[in-house]
Amino acid sequence: MKNSVSKCDLWKPGYHIIPPSGWLNDPNGLCFFNGYYHVFYQYVPDSPEGGLKCWGHYRSRDLLNWEECPVMMKPDQPYDRNGVYSGSALIENDKMYLFYTGNVKHKGDYDYINSGREHNTVMAVSTDGMKIDKKLPLLYNRDYPEGLTCHVRDPKVFKYDGKYYMVIGARTKQNRGQVLVYESEDLSSWKFINTLSTKEQFGYMWECPDLFELGGSFILAVSPQGLKSERHRYQNVYSSGYFIINGDFRGRCTLGNYTEFDSGFDFYAPQTFEHDGRRLMLAWMGMPDAQYTNPTVKYGWQHCMSMFRELNLKHGRIVQVPAREYKKLRKGHKVLRSEGMLSFETENPCLEINISDIDIGNNAGFGISIFDTLELIYDVPSGEFVLIHTDKNKSAYGRTKRVLPLQKNELKKIDIFLDASCAEIFVNDTSGVLSTRYYPENYKEINCKGSFNIEIYEISG
Ligand code: FRU
Repeated sequence: MKNSVSKCDLWKPGYHIIPPSGWLNDPNGLCFFNGYYHVFYQYVPDSPEGGLKCWGHYRSRDLLNWEECPVMMKPDQPYDRNGVYSGSALIENDKMYLFYTGNVKHKGDYDYINSGREHNTVMAVSTDGMKIDKKLPLLYNRDYPEGLTCHVRDPKVFKYDGKYYMVIGARTKQNRGQVLVYESEDLSSWKFINTLSTKEQFGYMWECPDLFELGGSFILAVSPQGLKSERHRYQNVYSSGYFIINGDFRGRCTLGNYTEFDSGFDFYAPQTFEHDGRRLMLAWMGMPDAQYTNPTVKYGWQHCMSMFRELNLKHGRIVQVPAREYKKLRKGHKVLRSEGMLSFETENPCLEINISDIDIGNNAGFGISIFDTLELIYDVPSGEFVLIHTDKNKSAYGRTKRVLPLQKNELKKIDIFLDASCAEIFVNDTSGVLSTRYYPENYKEINCKGSFNIEIYEISG
């Protein structure tokens, strides 16, 4: 019987970012600066169950090996005293500019939505990318447009056409989620120029907005709260996805249909950045207000980031593939062919499994059972690709299944990335992704059903 400490180690991912200790949520301030990728994140070092948020910091030269850096920002000003909340980075004039929400909670018996809280927009400047030279509040609650609640947060700043733009997520007094657009010539004075929203109410709050150009279109990504669950969509307590913007985001424009980024259980508050001509996305592999606590809490840490995903626009949809760097982690390699049933054994909790040439035509169906904890099934009649938590212990916390709807006979290829307690499943390159945390008791056996080729790479985290 393994002791609890080594069990904790078993669930510790090898190539997904986790906090050094304590709690992690949203990725913040993603950028490439002076030869390093930087990931900042919502961090509570001293408690795995959350608390006062600061910006934790990792940097890496290759997206694979991450160096823990000192905490970048703590609540130390009157305008951010209850949390340095989420935000973004802009690299300009050899400096790193960080933008975040300074969270302030007033004492007393306030209503959570309309009063009792300030969400101030703050800029921080760093010349070395390792410490802050100064913080400068840009917008206080009183500066935001009329008609909003006090939930106005998560600034994302970018440069376009010689000017700077900032998008901020907001909740109106009519309980509608929307995004505010600001413009600036100098990064310190900001003018409100537009609101991006849907015609009909679409959730009561849009958190963590992002706005970027991809394949010639402008994309607005948001994490909406308050969407009603549908059969195949909006299954989690909160969602994250994108609209293609029709028109100019600075003026008259409309938002196209909303598409979720991920059909699994754990994917929220994604942010993107561009470097060397590609756009990478990183998300929190977790969910606010989730009805469960990850079992790693008893070992002093909770939550992790997703893998970095490279984004491209193809036929009007965002296609996500794992950043090509992960291929460098491949070690041992096995190629097998499944005809009917196939089992293989492993001791490695970190695997990349590429399944191709899936032949549904011979009625073998398709299924794969991973470490007795997760199952992936393709339901041929309905075309549903299903992810199911099957573990008998309590780590599924009532979480059962998630569905990615496909066309009949559309399943051709699956790329599965396993990393101790993380599973990210990319379907058909272009159909979609399902991500989940999972907590196997051991990492021994994978069982498959169906006819296909299967390549298994051990991964060194
Ligand atoms: C999203 C979020 C953000 C906020 C941050 C606080 O998960 O609620 O809106 O800035 O987390 O940690």
